[in-house]
Amino acid sequence: MNESNKCVEKDLAHIWHPASQMKDYEDFPPIIIDHGKGVKLYDVDGNEYIDIISSWWCNLLGHCNDEVSEALKEQVDKLDHVLFANFSHKIIIELSERLIKVMPEGLNKFSFVDNGSASVECALKMAFQYCAQNGKEHKKRFMCFTDAYHGETLGALSVGALDEYSKVFERIMVDTIKVQAPDCYRCPYNKHRDSCECECFEDAEKKFEEYGHETCAMIIEPLIQGSAGMKIYPPLYLKKLRALCDKYDVLLIADEIATGFGRTGKMFAVDHAGISPDIMCISKGLTNGYMAMAVCVSTDEIYEGFYGDYADNIAFMHSHTYAGNPLAASVANATLKIMERDNVLEDANEKAIWLNNRFHEIFDSHLNVGEIRQMGLINAIELVEDKESKKGFDSSERIGYKIYKEALKDGLMLRPLGNVMYFNPPLVITKEELEESLAICKKSIDNVLLK
Ligand SMILES: Cc1ncc(COP(=O)(O)O)c(C=O)c1O
Repeated sequence: MNESNKCVEKDLAHIWHPASQMKDYEDFPPIIIDHGKGVKLYDVDGNEYIDIISSWWCNLLGHCNDEVSEALKEQVDKLDHVLFANFSHKIIIELSERLIKVMPEGLNKFSFVDNGSASVECALKMAFQYCAQNGKEHKKRFMCFTDAYHGETLGALSVGALDEYSKVFERIMVDTIKVQAPDCYRCPYNKHRDSCECECFEDAEKKFEEYGHETCAMIIEPLIQGSAGMKIYPPLYLKKLRALCDKYDVLLIADEIATGFGRTGKMFAVDHAGISPDIMCISKGLTNGYMAMAVCVSTDEIYEGFYGDYADNIAFMHSHTYAGNPLAASVANATLKIMERDNVLEDANEKAIWLNNRFHEIFDSHLNVGEIRQMGLINAIELVEDKESKKGFDSSERIGYKIYKEALKDGLMLRPLGNVMYFNPPLVITKEELEESLAICKKSIDNVLLK
C-alpha cells in the first residue's frame, strides 16, 4: 500500500469532509496534501497541483510564503492566545491600524471573530440590536438576494438562498425577504452588464417599498455572487442600492468575505462603486489562508448606538473564544504589509487584462462556453448545453465535477461551482502558471464534453 492509500484509509475511517457527499469518496478518495509552496500543492505521492482557486479563495500570496511564515514563527513564541474581553495586544492594534488604511470611508470599528459565517452572524445581530435600541424596534427583518451565499450557520443560511445548503433547514430558519439578484447572463431585460441602467433594480425598489419600513438591514455579496457561480453584476447596481437603503433607513451589509483584498481588482468590491456600506464582513484573504480570522467592520454611528452604562443593557454581547487571536493577527499583518509594499494588486491587475484576453481567445468559439465573466483575476466560464438558448446542462450530469476530476489528473485544482469553471488564483501567480492552467482547463473541458 502506498503512502497515499494508507492515509486515505485512516482519513475515511474518521473524518467527515465538508461540502461533499461522503459516498463520492468511495471512487474519488481525498487527495492527501503533504506540503504547499507558491501556487502549488504537493501530495504525499509527489504529484503537484496548481491551486487555481486559492484553496477556497483564501490564498493571495501563495502557499507558505516565507515572510508570512516568519511572522507566524516569531509570534508563536511570544503570545499564542489571550482572551479578548478586557485584554488586548499590540499585534491586533497594529492590524486595526493597517485595516483602517484600506477600509472604505467611515468603516472604522472592528469586531474580530474567527470565520466568515461568524462575521455574518455578528453583522446581522449588530444590525438588529442597533435598530432595537435606537428607536427603530419595528425594523426586525433582513433582506438578501436570491442565489445569495453568506455561510452556513443558521443565521447566515437564512440570508442565503442556495437550496443545496439551506433547503432542509427552511422550517427553522429566520424568514427573510428575497430581492431578485441581477442575472446578467440571462438578463430578463435583454441588456448587457457593461451598458445597462440596471433595469433589474426594479425588484429591489418594489421590495423596499413593501418591506423597507420593517427591514433593519440588507446583506449582499457586492458585484460577485461567488458560490452562485461567480455571477457578476455592475457597480451601478450597488450605487442604486446604497441610495435605496438610505431612503428607507435600511443598513447595508456588504459581505466582502470572498471579494475582499484585491480579488475584484480593487481592495474591496464596493470600491468599484465608490460606496461605503454600514457594516462589512471580511475574512479569507485577510490571513492568506494561514489562520481562521474574520472581522465585522462597522461605523462610528453604529458603535455609538451600543455605548452606555452597563446597566443600560445595550452592550453588544457577542463573543468568540478565538476573537482577535494573536497568531491570526500576525499573519494578517504580514499579508497586508506585503500587499502594500510589493504592489501586489497593481501587478495582479496587469495580469488580469492579459488573462481575460487569453480566456476569450481560447473559449469564445467553444461550443459549450455560454459566457466568460471576469473581475480582477477571477475568470469564470459558464458551460451550457446550447449557446443559442443558454440552456444549461442538467445538474444530474455533473459536468463540472467530471471536468474537475479530469483536470486533477493533469495537476490543476479546478473545483467547479455547478457547471461554472473558474480561476480565482493567488494574486502572485505568474503568466506561465496561468498559461499552463488554461491549457489543462481547455483539455479537461474537451475531454469531458467532446467525448
Ligand atoms: C461571500 C461569503 N460569505 C460567507 C462565507 C462563509 O465563510 P466561512 O466559510 O469562513 O464561514 C463565504 C465562504 O465561502 C463566502 O464566500
